[in-house]
Amino acid sequence: MQSDNHAEAPVLFFDSGVGGLSILAPARELLPRMPVIYAADRAGYPYGTKSEAEIAARVPALLGRLVERYRPRIAVIACNTASTIALAAVRAALDIPVVGTVPAIKPAALSSKTRVIGVLGTEATVRQPYVDRLAAEHGADCTILRHGSAALVALAEAKLRGQPLDPEVARTALLGLIEQPDGERMDSVVLACTHFPLVQQELEQAARTLGTRPLAFLHGGEGIARRIAYLNGDLPWPETPAPGIAVFTGSDPDIAELRSALKSYGLTQINAL
Ligand code: DGL
Repeated sequence: MQSDNHAEAPVLFFDSGVGGLSILAPARELLPRMPVIYAADRAGYPYGTKSEAEIAARVPALLGRLVERYRPRIAVIACNTASTIALAAVRAALDIPVVGTVPAIKPAALSSKTRVIGVLGTEATVRQPYVDRLAAEHGADCTILRHGSAALVALAEAKLRGQPLDPEVARTALLGLIEQPDGERMDSVVLACTHFPLVQQELEQAARTLGTRPLAFLHGGEGIARRIAYLNGDLPWPETPAPGIAVFTGSDPDIAELRSALKSYGLTQINAL
């Protein structure tokens, strides 16, 4: 699908699995004629339990292959784990604009009344110096609690496959924040993993069950959509975009279960890398 016609060049979204769909959705809403390649590194999933060295070795090389194959105009790393570890390396490796996804601590700090903010991400993301920097820069007067949950990532994958969901998973993830000192005063939860907006309803239900104070759940999807529009500048979009393509690394035995979810995001073709 190499294209020399720039109007046809797609935007590439990249994640370890289905999480990046939470970034794709607001981007499609803002830019309905945007051609889309959605790449999921199933062979490398999950990222959140991997080491920094593994992510740093894997992500720039994989994005390089994807860019060579699909010639996108912009690449979006729709994954907090990959962005907080490898964004600079990916930018250095590619000659197109790269948009990263980083925890929405800034908007949370702007709106939190109690000044206690939870950051719910993968285990790898919540320990990143990148998150320390965001916290120091934007939330210096806030208590910033962090918790990593691999089970919540798996819950989102299961939800998009239409599999039965265990409500205990969302409850345990929220408790991971609430049970920390000052946790009961938390009024904002940053969804610092792109899988988590896909299970926001389950998190809201868990908050009701636990009887927490009202929680605002924040993530960066809409800001990223605006960033894509800005970086695209005046380059035209096709009148009618080509059908969206989902690309998976490795072999996914339950890919058939994902077809209808992918279709609802405009991804009607499935390719292997
Ligand atoms: N969706 C990814 C993120 O935003 C990673 C999930 C995983 O593979 O552990 O961090």
